[in-house]
Amino acid sequence: MKNLGTETAFAVSAEARELECKGKKIYPFHLGDMNIKTPKRIIEATKKAMDDGKTGYCPSAGIPELREAVAKEEGKLRDLKLTKENVSIQPGGKPVIAKFILAFMNPGDEVLYPNPGYPIYESQIEFHGGVAKPYGFKVGENGFEIDVESIEKSITPKTKLLVFNNYHNPIGAGAGEEEMKNIAELCVKHNLVVLNDEAYFDICYSGKQKSIASFPQMFERTLILYTFSKKFAMTGWRLGAAIGPEWMIKEINRLNVNDESCSNHFIQWGAVEALKYCHKESKEILETLRERRDAACEILESIRGIKVIKPNSTFYLFPDVTDAMKNLGFDDVEEFRKFIIETTGVSFCTRNHFGTKIDGEDREYIRIAYSGINVKDIREGLLKFKEAIENPEIVKKWRESK
Ligand SMILES: Cc1ncc(COP(=O)(O)O)c(C=O)c1O
Repeated sequence: MKNLGTETAFAVSAEARELECKGKKIYPFHLGDMNIKTPKRIIEATKKAMDDGKTGYCPSAGIPELREAVAKEEGKLRDLKLTKENVSIQPGGKPVIAKFILAFMNPGDEVLYPNPGYPIYESQIEFHGGVAKPYGFKVGENGFEIDVESIEKSITPKTKLLVFNNYHNPIGAGAGEEEMKNIAELCVKHNLVVLNDEAYFDICYSGKQKSIASFPQMFERTLILYTFSKKFAMTGWRLGAAIGPEWMIKEINRLNVNDESCSNHFIQWGAVEALKYCHKESKEILETLRERRDAACEILESIRGIKVIKPNSTFYLFPDVTDAMKNLGFDDVEEFRKFIIETTGVSFCTRNHFGTKIDGEDREYIRIAYSGINVKDIREGLLKFKEAIENPEIVKKWRESK
């Protein structure tokens, strides 16, 4: 158990809740959860499924109707020809991470994974006896880019797997076509098996999405993590899927039998409704998120010492706060976070909640999630944040109070 990690972001939630209980207004930018309601049609279809008696076990790979709907709809979006044999339904997107590691990694294998990144990759790799090897990002002409060169340099004969997360949590960035092509070529050249975490694939504000699984020779080595959580605002329903070649899906299905028998039966009928009929509703969710992104960026861009790249995907912003911290006399981003939450109620995670810094990283970042906070509170909170950064009296008073 010593090797099992966690999501330290939950500690920030607990801290925010404690302050809230003491009467402080909290602006929850730390949450990757959503305060948007699940579309009514999905709820109605799920209720009907319960009334119709879809309350027993179902096939461990998922009901065929849902596997077919995922294959058709998600295949189309990714330029992949899929059948239901390419889909294994899961109780959320997250279980795909552990199942991928269990099925395709041997103890001692090296696994490349993004850092900063979703903390569960490192946790599961190490828990199951693998060697977690982080790869980082650099700021290029088009914003954040994966440091492909550094990935290639770190590959050894023991490197067997690569985790790719597009669009990326916490950075919010999407890989460009060239970047994806380079990574795909690297995976083929070194015969790497790939976990392609596409939890945010549908949270893309403009242009057509592209999946790394659609590059030459990639589909047969790639397992896609798919989830209903974000696209249809269904985080608490716990439904997702693993999508991949049949040889991978067969193994994942065997894990399903061992782990949960099957995903929740009646919810799968709600998900069929979602994929078939809720295109309009998912667009509305995206528009709500776009409005929030624009409101948050507008204020962040105006703050002295803060650099923010407006991302085209996810519901996260990853501003560089190095200069703001310097201006206020902070060396430690955790102390900066505490100063902001205590003086303004604005609560966020920092880069350190998404893995240990890689050698050579010299900038400080925070993650602003706007999925669980409405536009009015985004503006109100970030204006307080701006004031705390630009008015030296506030930090002076806070330090005196310590
Ligand atoms: C990168 C990434 N992958 C996977 C997941 C898990 O998604 P789900 O809530 O559907 O299990 C999340 C959730 O926030 C995520 O950020």
